Amino acid sequence: MLVSPLRSSSFYGIQSALVALAATIVGAVPSLEVQGTEFVNPASGNKFQIVGVAYQPGGSAGYNPNAGKDPLSNADTCLRDAALMQVMGVNTIRVYNLDPNINHDECASIFNAAGIYMIIDVNSPLVGEAITSFQPWTSYYMAYLNHTFSVVEAFSNYPNTLLYFSGNEVINDLPSAKDVPPYLRAITRDLKNYIKNNIKRHIPVGYSAADVREVLWDTWNYMQCAIDGKTDDMSRADIFALNSYSWCGPDATYQSSTFSDLTDKFQASSIPVFFSEYGCNKPTPRFWNETKAIYGDKMTPVFAGGVVYEWTEEENGYGLVTIKGDTLSIMGDYDRLKARWSGIDWKSIQTQSPANKTVAPPKCESTLILENGFDNNFTLPVVPPGAQKLIDDGVQPKPSGKIIKISNFNVKMTVKDSSGKTVSGLKVVPLNDNEFNWVGKNKIQTGNDTSSSNQGGNKDNAAMLTRPMMWAAALPLVAMLFA
Ligand SMILES: *[C@@H]1O[C@H](CO)[C@@H](O)[C@H](O)[C@H]1NC(C)=O
Ligand SMILES: *[C@@H]1O[C@H](CO)[C@@H](O)[C@H](O)[C@H]1NC(C)=O
Ligand SMILES: *[C@@H]1O[C@H](CO)[C@@H](O)[C@H](O)[C@H]1NC(C)=O
Ligand SMILES: *[C@@H]1O[C@H](CO)[C@@H](O)[C@H](O)[C@H]1NC(C)=O
Repeated sequence: MLVSPLRSSSFYGIQSALVALAATIVGAVPSLEVQGTEFVNPASGNKFQIVGVAYQPGGSAGYNPNAGKDPLSNADTCLRDAALMQVMGVNTIRVYNLDPNINHDECASIFNAAGIYMIIDVNSPLVGEAITSFQPWTSYYMAYLNHTFSVVEAFSNYPNTLLYFSGNEVINDLPSAKDVPPYLRAITRDLKNYIKNNIKRHIPVGYSAADVREVLWDTWNYMQCAIDGKTDDMSRADIFALNSYSWCGPDATYQSSTFSDLTDKFQASSIPVFFSEYGCNKPTPRFWNETKAIYGDKMTPVFAGGVVYEWTEEENGYGLVTIKGDTLSIMGDYDRLKARWSGIDWKSIQTQSPANKTVAPPKCESTLILENGFDNNFTLPVVPPGAQKLIDDGVQPKPSGKIIKISNFNVKMTVKDSSGKTVSGLKVVPLNDNEFNWVGKNKIQTGNDTSSSNQGGNKDNAAMLTRPMMWAAALPLVAMLFA
């Protein structure tokens, strides 16, 4: 029998009665593995599709290490948000900016109980906490790596940590592809070596790319290829993901959105591929027609699902909910996405057998890179001075999270539905051990599920350049989007 990491400690292993007891107290999602080109749930043997939401309440300002604040620092808001996500069938959140020195046990345990995995970005917008798109050598040094390793340590004990992203949209056009690629492989190498040496579970490391077609294919090949033909090369990404906003509006189709092109090309991927962000918001409202394609017959063999951008309404107008003070208001986009997802047969999607497809990665060689100006040199920067000791022996001090018992799953904060009525009885329904969430596991009513109106939706973003922008450094990207 395969046991989840929570129960694999010797204490719980002593007697099965104790194990059963422990399971009723603190259930844990099964930690997933990458096998070939898929995520696989080792507890069931089934392949797994990501049904995700990007979670960065407050945008970049929601990350304030000096105030002890990041998206997973407040248990009350995590409980509220986890309950609302659980109702709509979310099984994964993506969290961008995290401080390894903050305690995340309550939030991680709440999302775990709700059957929701976490995709963790190891970088942040702060100086010294990310690889820069220009002159990347100025940002690649020991203290930077120490930050990323500390984030890895802080989240590695949680069974619901799905993967780490070594970078997000660091390459977003040809100028930024001139020098960055070898640095992305170097940081991937360092993270994977850190995990191999210091972390009990083999948690995968991926890269989240900008879906800018001029650089997308080279970025994918640069990250997935095998240096000297070695598939176990530590600098090879375990996963490739893309932030894609090409399916826009209710008239778009699988072909016109170019999702068909993406699917055709990524068929050849040697590693899992998924959407690390999607949800074009021009025009509004969003009807989420693309989710039918993403979880349909054509795409599920190639894409492991996707992450909707994003949970909270921020200036760029991509929210499913609005938060003002202590009150959360559900927006029309939440209702419409929930309605759309409720029409999908999750049980059959999440119980498929893996294809066990092994695709040999291309060999890393300069001719693999097609665009003139995209770095085609696979000689990687060496580990910066002082950092090898961290990779060998671990960071000091070592942040260490753990799943804890949540005594009360009832949401205390105020939640209003899209018509302004207060939602009552909202709570997280803790799942059984080895379960993860999908539609139907939490049946609490959250208001108007069948709305097809723009009520509560985005009103004022039509004139904005609405590309979600985590980092000001990514601004030049906007131009590419309309190219
Ligand atoms: C590494 O990061 C931790 C946590 O932020 C910090 O306490 C420590 O001083 C850092 N160590 C180095 C060598 O930079
Ligand atoms: C997208 O969904 C909307 C709302 O359900 C529907 O009216 C529209 O016909 C769909 N678009 C396509 C191309 O199927
Ligand atoms: C590739 O990069 C390495 C390290 O920066 C450098 O020494 C080498 O000359 C480069 N090779 C080519 C062909 O430019
Ligand atoms: C949902 O919203 C739509 C459009 O505003 C409205 O026509 C419908 O009656 C509402 N349904 C419920 C159950 O409130």
